[in-house]
Amino acid sequence: MVTYLNKEIKLSASRQLWAITRSVLEINMYKTKKNGKKTKSHWDEFEALLKIVKFILKSLSLYDKGTERARQIIPKKVSLEFDNLPEGFSGYKILHLSDLHIDALPNFEDDVIRQIGDLQYDICIMTGDYRKEIEGGFGQIIEPMKKITSAIKCSDGTFAVLGNHDTYLMHTLENKMDIQFLINESIKVSRNGSSILITGTDDPYSYYTVEAAHSLQADFDGFKIAAVHTPELKNIASENDYKLYLCGHTHGGQICLPNGKPLITHQKEGSQYASGIWHENGMIGYTHNGCGVSGIPVRYNSNGEVTIIELLKKNRYENN
Ligand SMILES: [Fe+2]
Repeated sequence: MVTYLNKEIKLSASRQLWAITRSVLEINMYKTKKNGKKTKSHWDEFEALLKIVKFILKSLSLYDKGTERARQIIPKKVSLEFDNLPEGFSGYKILHLSDLHIDALPNFEDDVIRQIGDLQYDICIMTGDYRKEIEGGFGQIIEPMKKITSAIKCSDGTFAVLGNHDTYLMHTLENKMDIQFLINESIKVSRNGSSILITGTDDPYSYYTVEAAHSLQADFDGFKIAAVHTPELKNIASENDYKLYLCGHTHGGQICLPNGKPLITHQKEGSQYASGIWHENGMIGYTHNGCGVSGIPVRYNSNGEVTIIELLKKNRYENN
């Protein structure tokens, strides 16, 4: 059973205020960071560089191989143990999807749906970046997202946060499909007489606001999960006793050297936060490699993933 801490979540004053603030940042192409930095986005320059790299890849006949690899999504299962997980949630499974960038490759939603297949899970959490570009409309992702959300079958629903590629207007997708955005908001999930809390924040990579940090100070005495687009809020989450932090954004590098080392991860937290499991001050974090791709729609020496995160009660696991 899922309970919204704020029952009027779609109409709340805080959601409206957030939408106004986010729209101003988007219109002015401002990037705001946790350290107080406010800069103009230089995406145009980055796009120009991408065009040159794309031309080189095509000239070397590597482009088609890269798009083919980008469609090779791998199903992953990650089991994580926690001391303070309520017994009733041991074995609880989260379908973690991230960085769908669903319009980057034609019919990419079908590749994702194929991997979701018959997987068994209790809830779905999406950690941002639904479209390829960082600006413009999002009409092109509505039907593919509808197909994906329809393919997700679980008892506790689908919850999503926004990434740096997403416009604030996407929160209206809630009215079109079975998805609920968590924008500096929390939900309580209950089963077998106990509850856990899931908090989702707005993207801190380009649109950090203090409200995102405040949302991670949710007053809840129990097991808490943070869903954030990037690893950037890990310290705030761990200091506030969150035990699991789910994020994406890095695409696991997307373009990696033959030894798997990423060339670019678009994050400055450290290489250990670029992919997979990491630990921070008693909290376990997981950086999803992304389902999809952005920029140049290719992968080299890297795979997209569809991930099941299984929560296990620590002592119960040891007794087995
Ligand atoms: Fe992304």
